[in-house]
Amino acid sequence: MNTLLTQLKIRKGEWISGEALSREMGISRTAVWKQIRGLKARGYSIEASTRKGYRFLTAPDLLLSEEIRTGLETRVFGRGDIFCFPEADSTNNRAKALAEAGAPEGALVLAEAQSGGRGRRGRNWFSPAGSGIYMSLILRPGIPPAEAARITLMSSVAVAEAVAAVARLDVKIKWPNDVLAGAKKIAGILTEISTEMDSVNYVVVGIGINVGHRPADFPPDIRSSAGSIFSETGRAVSRTELIRSVITLFESHYFELKTRGFQNIRIKWCGLSGVLGRSVVVESPGGRIRGTAESIDGDGSLLVRNRSGVLKRLFSGDVFIEEGRPGGGGKK
Ligand code: BTN
Repeated sequence: MNTLLTQLKIRKGEWISGEALSREMGISRTAVWKQIRGLKARGYSIEASTRKGYRFLTAPDLLLSEEIRTGLETRVFGRGDIFCFPEADSTNNRAKALAEAGAPEGALVLAEAQSGGRGRRGRNWFSPAGSGIYMSLILRPGIPPAEAARITLMSSVAVAEAVAAVARLDVKIKWPNDVLAGAKKIAGILTEISTEMDSVNYVVVGIGINVGHRPADFPPDIRSSAGSIFSETGRAVSRTELIRSVITLFESHYFELKTRGFQNIRIKWCGLSGVLGRSVVVESPGGRIRGTAESIDGDGSLLVRNRSGVLKRLFSGDVFIEEGRPGGGGKK
């Protein structure tokens, strides 16, 4: 897209005269100046000089659709509508409302802050302004409901790979979809589906990533278990760059899942897993199970061999890794 912003950005740090910009854009010099004023009001740093013209310096670290689109090479996700809200109750709620109103696959909802961010199993998701990523993607995969869990696992692979690449951080996935750096949870995924008869009408994949939080920012009840990219690396990363990376990997894995099935995603998930082969306790709706996490199945369930040697299949729950106990250890 040939916007004034694009023209300025491709010559970042260089002076461009108002006259050249007005010629290239086919608009008056006053219109150029008005657009520059608008960009500055949105947080862009652009120097202006009566003799030399304009010089683009930096973009704000705000979530802006045109920033996210810049350099995004996806085909569907993030190509159409990107909704950026200063605050939402929950981006998943907004995405579900949009999906109900007919929004197509690929639509993206983002918020700077959430007043009612939701986590798995009825929990809250801590969502302060400016330091996290709160995003939801709309999917229309046309699959039977029984296969929807694969999308959640696939999403956790995309998020883990994006965090590892952008933040240069060693991360692991804790079943089903917590992304951990060491023992700290830095990202989570909440997948919600709407079904019609025996097929999925739409899926909303909600992704929360803790980016710039300092340890003291977290509420006391999650301070020991939650972390952020900044708290674990001491480095600040661009949320926009991370979002682009998540969307790109997400799309690639989603198409892989749709065209070739779960096998390759499952291999990637197992490679990133922090639970397989470990001694775990799983709190599931059916009760508590202690054993060794052996594998995940094609339906996304976790297979845990209990101390009596019986293989248990779990469809939901919270996994706790038993410190220092690799799988196969004796009774505790
Ligand atoms: C979890 O419990 O691990 C899942 C957390 C999911 C949080 C994200 S933030 C964006 C989206 N909107 C929500 O309300 N929740 C998800």
